[in-house]
Amino acid sequence: MKLDIVKYGDPVLQKEGEEITNIDGQLTEFISNMFETMYEAKGVGLAAPQVSLSKKLFVMDVSAGKDSKERIVCINPQIVDSKGKVVSEEGCLSFPGIYFEVERPEVVTVQAIDLNGKEFTFEVDGLAARCVLHEKDHIDGKVFIEYLNPLKRDLIKRKIKKKIKLGDWE
Ligand code: NI
Repeated sequence: MKLDIVKYGDPVLQKEGEEITNIDGQLTEFISNMFETMYEAKGVGLAAPQVSLSKKLFVMDVSAGKDSKERIVCINPQIVDSKGKVVSEEGCLSFPGIYFEVERPEVVTVQAIDLNGKEFTFEVDGLAARCVLHEKDHIDGKVFIEYLNPLKRDLIKRKIKKKIKLGDWE
């Protein structure tokens, strides 16, 4: 089942998600819906708050559905190490049509819980690292425009206000 992706302006995007303490059938089903929603929206990552569930959970697949090995579910993730810095263009399913460059670490090590409740650790770089950091921000209640300087952020906010006026933001 496809879920509704909330847009910037919805308070759920600026709230820290709760820890997940119980992995049951309902959560498993929700995660499968998150993948469906992400693939349909042509995204490579989706965090639970973006579909109105304020919990520490995100899914990602940098192959966009082409390689099942790239499907990753992260429950209660932590960034345990990061290296380097790289600037690259970024977008967000909660900010349709908005893209800009963000500086982020180049390599990250993540520790999380999988669907079986087991802890796992993985290291990623490139797009996957950017995706992990972006989605981890979402579950901490942080959105990517917070990386912009105040001037650029105002510019983007004005652009969004215009889109809202045009009915282009729902
Ligand atoms: Ni996002």
